[in-house]
Amino acid sequence: QTVKLADYQPTDFILRGVKMTLMLFEGYADVSTRLTLERRQGVLADAPLNLDGDELVLESIAVDGLTLEPSRYEATPESLKVTGLPEVGPFELAIETRIVPEQNSKLMGLYRSNGIWCTQCEAEGFRRITYFLDRPDVLAPYLVRIEADKAAAPVLLSNGNPVDSGDLEGGRHYAVWDDPFNKPSYLFAVVAGDLDLLPDEFVTMSGRTVTLGIYTEKGRAAQAAYAMDALKRSMAWDERRFGREYDLDVFNVVAIADFNMGAMENKGLNVFNHKYVLLDPDIATDTDYAGVETVIAHEYFHNWTGNRITCRDWFQLCLKEGLTVYRDQEFSADERERTVQRIGSVRRLKAHQFPEDQGPLQHPVRPSEYREINNFYTATVYDKGAELVRMIATLLGEAGFRAGMDLYFDRHDGEAATIEAFVACFEDATGTDLSQFALWYSQAGTPTLTVTEQWDADQRRHAVTLRQSLSKGAAGTGTEPMVLPLRFGLVGGNGEDSDAEGHVTGGAELKDDLIVLNGTEATVTFTGLADRPYLSVLRDFSAPVTLAHEQSEAARIALARLDPNLFNRWRALDDLLANGLTEAGRRPLGDATPPLGAPVIEALLASAGDDSLDPAFRAQALAMPGEADIARQIAENVDPDRVHEVVEAARLAIGTKGLAIFERLRGSLAPDAAFSPDAASAGRRALANAALGYLSAARGEPSDALAQYETAGNMTDRLGALAILVHRFPGAEGTEAALGDFYRRFEADDLVLDKWFALQAAAPYHGAVETVARLAEHPRFTMRNPNRVRALVGTFAAGNQVGFHRADGAGYHFVADKLAELDRINPQIAARIATTFRAWRSFEASRRTKLAETLRQLSEIKGLSKDLQDIVDRSLK
Ligand code: ARG
Ligand code: ZN
Repeated sequence: QTVKLADYQPTDFILRGVKMTLMLFEGYADVSTRLTLERRQGVLADAPLNLDGDELVLESIAVDGLTLEPSRYEATPESLKVTGLPEVGPFELAIETRIVPEQNSKLMGLYRSNGIWCTQCEAEGFRRITYFLDRPDVLAPYLVRIEADKAAAPVLLSNGNPVDSGDLEGGRHYAVWDDPFNKPSYLFAVVAGDLDLLPDEFVTMSGRTVTLGIYTEKGRAAQAAYAMDALKRSMAWDERRFGREYDLDVFNVVAIADFNMGAMENKGLNVFNHKYVLLDPDIATDTDYAGVETVIAHEYFHNWTGNRITCRDWFQLCLKEGLTVYRDQEFSADERERTVQRIGSVRRLKAHQFPEDQGPLQHPVRPSEYREINNFYTATVYDKGAELVRMIATLLGEAGFRAGMDLYFDRHDGEAATIEAFVACFEDATGTDLSQFALWYSQAGTPTLTVTEQWDADQRRHAVTLRQSLSKGAAGTGTEPMVLPLRFGLVGGNGEDSDAEGHVTGGAELKDDLIVLNGTEATVTFTGLADRPYLSVLRDFSAPVTLAHEQSEAARIALARLDPNLFNRWRALDDLLANGLTEAGRRPLGDATPPLGAPVIEALLASAGDDSLDPAFRAQALAMPGEADIARQIAENVDPDRVHEVVEAARLAIGTKGLAIFERLRGSLAPDAAFSPDAASAGRRALANAALGYLSAARGEPSDALAQYETAGNMTDRLGALAILVHRFPGAEGTEAALGDFYRRFEADDLVLDKWFALQAAAPYHGAVETVARLAEHPRFTMRNPNRVRALVGTFAAGNQVGFHRADGAGYHFVADKLAELDRINPQIAARIATTFRAWRSFEASRRTKLAETLRQLSEIKGLSKDLQDIVDRSLK
């Protein structure tokens, strides 16, 4: 059954408060819930109360202390309907359920992992704990009592502030938590177990001291130090940048090994996948450090954008997610290096959101219908959602954006809001009409921005024509012209922006360095130019569009060197590479025409060798576009073997021509004696490892990588070297030895073992299918741990174009078999990995047929979960 935005109705009953007791035992948990409810005014006197459930068993039910006659209610695992409730005034509904956390392999609701009880309720997990009005617009204060065996669970946590605790008979104890802030059920959390604590505190801008705690598995609290540091920096940043102060007396984070997502922003009790908490230089790469910082910030920022102001319904998911991603991206930009962060975000958007927006799983940033909401925690909702907030900020300027945000916090604090309400705050605060802009929320698809230029040498005049178009895709939403804020500059040969006067005809407005295209087409004519300028458009990727800019290779090469906007310097290089690889990728397998011309390689090497540029930026410039990105640009009849061949040829050509530069970089970027995770040090490591990759390709032998593997003083350098060995020198003597050494060194650490699995799953060979099948039988592989499944099956399916798309279809069969098995254990993860099949239409005929056939076979499996069925059906449509 499909849920539709247009069908939204408030509940018939208002929830005033929740009191819960969770009694945790070995093998089961008893949950007793008391809800204070009241019939909403105007609701019919005989209207029943309908509560949601999911695999529940009702043990008892009472209203105002009196057990209900069976005729008064109807209970199924999925619902509880109660009739004959009071016409006016509040009443108390008491419900008891018994659940089995140990058998909850879906990891939604209350589950037990490695002895630790923990919950995940977003989006619809609370209904797996008790019958409830399980929807985000039902807000209430919660008082929660937890009881458990003191030895099994010395730590008992829930939302809000701790108000009571003590010992009970039989070695048991209890704790009571009071959350005074109204919240929806998806923000409920309980954690109980034998955990270590890293304690700290934070003094807020108004002078209140907040007690901070990060709870980890035994013996690992020290590895939470960087996460704690990131948390305190996040708290300070939200005060500085948005005037947002933390509101409870305590803020706790718990790191859990078995977790479906990255983390969860439960009020006052964030629960994390331990991958985004636990770190030290021996086990974590620089990418891991950045990930911890981002996710810690993201979940903390949800306290205001998500918790204090939540969503009216799940269609509004981007209201909290897009906005919070925008906030965490801004945090990282302020804490690290803005351009480098932006390059990373845009790479991510293009790698994950663009294919989604251009394929069968397309949906608008605010969807209007769904079958399974878990399938809408997507790159479109999160990352494109963040781009929409960024565009509002670009259009309104810093002060206007802040005024709109202030109004939003002021006006909607304590509410479950909508996108309309959010956008209205920016309109009201600045007097701007954003009604056309709001189309971005309802129209799916990536608009194409076509840019053409005309230089009039006689008149010293440059005309820039901009055209937008949006084609109807799988979502079938509208194609009206939208509002595109386009940052630009006209770059002169001196590397400076011209201040030439511009004159607009057609649907656009020009303000300083911004063209706001709001019609289908506009021309901006610049006069008073001495020479033909280089047009640098869509600076900082100021709108999420596909840019079709007819620009000569010479102009791109000039911009790569001259553009004052560093982001566009990177994009000029990236476009040169991607265009060359795309064109070459369309030629048949074996075609030996070099994919990149000498001037392109020289431009790339000039940036790589330019010591005046930030090493992190140079590392980004050297990172080749991903094979899946090139496949998406090729768009049809893709042969993944050809794409790989072309990328390898380019790598060899760059490495050979740049050998001297890469050798110099390796020498000058020798690792620091002491490891520091800061962005500048990480940037130097990234550049050194990029150089090692090209060097190894050019020399065609593994000795440099082997030497680095053996002497590495941190995981970034060790894994960087191992990746080169495994992906480039699979047969070489040292490679197997290094892989074995890595396993023995780190086998005790699940997070590092995931890297060992993922590295092999990504190895770009046809034989990877057999490797991965063998690893699926490894004693340390398990379908019960989402990180392990993602490391092996997820990486192979989405990160190994050559292996997964092997021409005989063996890769498809392997993944489909694993998905069918996984679906019975954890459907949410199965559905997520299955999205890799969505690109099936873009492949050459033989693979296309096999992919479609695999999808069809999956779709016909009896008893498939709603999650996986939904992805498979939409992918085929
Ligand atoms: N709200 C969480 C976050 O963005 C993610 C929850 C994902 N939930 C889901 N059902 N997939 O940090
Ligand atoms: Zn989030």
